[in-house]
Amino acid sequence: MATIEHVLGDITAQDVDVIVNAANSSLLGGGGVDGAIHRRGGPEILAECRELRAGHYGGGLPTGQAVATTAGRLGARWVVHTVGPVWSDTEDRAHLLEACHRNSLRVAAELGATSIAFPAISTGVYRWPVGSAAEIAHRAVADAEIDLVRFVLFDRATYEVFTRS
Ligand code: APR
Repeated sequence: MATIEHVLGDITAQDVDVIVNAANSSLLGGGGVDGAIHRRGGPEILAECRELRAGHYGGGLPTGQAVATTAGRLGARWVVHTVGPVWSDTEDRAHLLEACHRNSLRVAAELGATSIAFPAISTGVYRWPVGSAAEIAHRAVADAEIDLVRFVLFDRATYEVFTRS
């Protein structure tokens, strides 16, 4: 049974085995969490992302899936990149956001990780309402077999919603 924590802070500063990146399917970086992880983690992360794109993920990482790379200069041992769904008013994509969390946990377990930090996936550029994202994230990690799941929220409002969810 995992310990579930909520922290207000920067995910790149977390001392856990796995830091989860809210990436895009290109795996070649972006803004938000993606930008912060590549900036603080250094070029080794992008180099491994490029290898993934040159190999198994030639067409990019599909939404909901997860893949690991080195964490470069970050305090973590690995970064697990996952691609969240973009919010849609007309299509229910909740299963894809749930899949992001479950697949990230599966990859972390395969690596032997005992602790994992998640950002609030899809709630930034991808515009997913925070309350809904918090419910989906908590449901997805409820039966996680890892020792520690830490949600790292970047602003007070998101932190409040996650801790009340
Ligand atoms: N640590 C923790 N959380 C952060 C950090 C950080 N350093 N930087 C941003 N966040 C928060 C945002 O405030 C938001 O709550 O992460 C959450 C997710 O926001 P985004 O990073 O915009 O991710 P997402 O909504 O999933 O959109 C992904 O944005 O950056 C691009 O390349 C990325 O195209 C992809 C898209």
